[in-house]
Amino acid sequence: MLSLTIDIMSLFPDTVSAVLRDSIIGKGQENGIIRVNCHQIRDYTTNRQMQVDDYLYGGGQGMVMQAQPLHDCWKAICEEAGERLHTIYMSPQGKVFTQADAKRLKNDYDRFILVCGHYEGVDERFIEACVDEEISIGDFVLTGGEIPAMAVADAVCRLVPGVLSEEDCFEDESHWNGLLEYPQYSRPFEWNGRKVPEVLTSGHHANIARWRRKEAIRRTLIKRPDMLEKAELDKKDQLLLEEIRKEMEL
Ligand SMILES: C[S@@+](CC[C@H](N)C(=O)[O-])C[C@H]1O[C@@H](n2cnc3c(N)ncnc32)[C@H](O)[C@@H]1O
Repeated sequence: MLSLTIDIMSLFPDTVSAVLRDSIIGKGQENGIIRVNCHQIRDYTTNRQMQVDDYLYGGGQGMVMQAQPLHDCWKAICEEAGERLHTIYMSPQGKVFTQADAKRLKNDYDRFILVCGHYEGVDERFIEACVDEEISIGDFVLTGGEIPAMAVADAVCRLVPGVLSEEDCFEDESHWNGLLEYPQYSRPFEWNGRKVPEVLTSGHHANIARWRRKEAIRRTLIKRPDMLEKAELDKKDQLLLEEIRKEMEL
């Protein structure tokens, strides 16, 4: 059953579509659980040159995407959907995207639009008229919104039940519960003189779970102490943290 549809408005819909047709997200689409529709903004121009951008009022370098083709593309998607869809403009000025946003988008919407800007960005009046939120993928500037839109689509789609082979796959992953994930190993047991921690081959599930939780806390402490400060640690976790601090002589 179709659980989520994402409409991506772009000047490079074929590139975006090709990437999201591959791998796990592609399988999810093949299985009919998710759908990603990529729309060519240029198809909605009203000039013969199919130009989507123009000079900035007030002068300055570069071009800005005009409101009209963006609006008409957006309107056509909403009309086809039969409702005004939640609309997100990918922008370096937006709120920086987190796993919590991926969860929120997956829980709150069964269809939404991602708008990819280009050049110097898009005419402000399109944002005022049609955009509900702006999302950034980090404090840096890319040439276009396609990579950010693909990142958001991927992060949200993989949370839809049935997209990943095992539903609980993502629940131990980094950022799900405010911690980073524990270290992971595969065969062989020994590689270039480095062995897999013994506990992982013990078959003792409780000990393995304890070790993984402790290592998740340790990594978060080492790599992202800012996250650990905000993480919800229960009494057992606090004890593990004390052990770690002693081991690390902190
Ligand atoms: C060169 S950027 C425009 C930047 C704009 N002039 C500014 O300073 O805010 C062109 C497009 O790339 C996308 N983009 C660039 N960096 C991004 C980021 N960090 N997150 C999300 N989208 C981004 C946006 O869609 C934007 O319209």
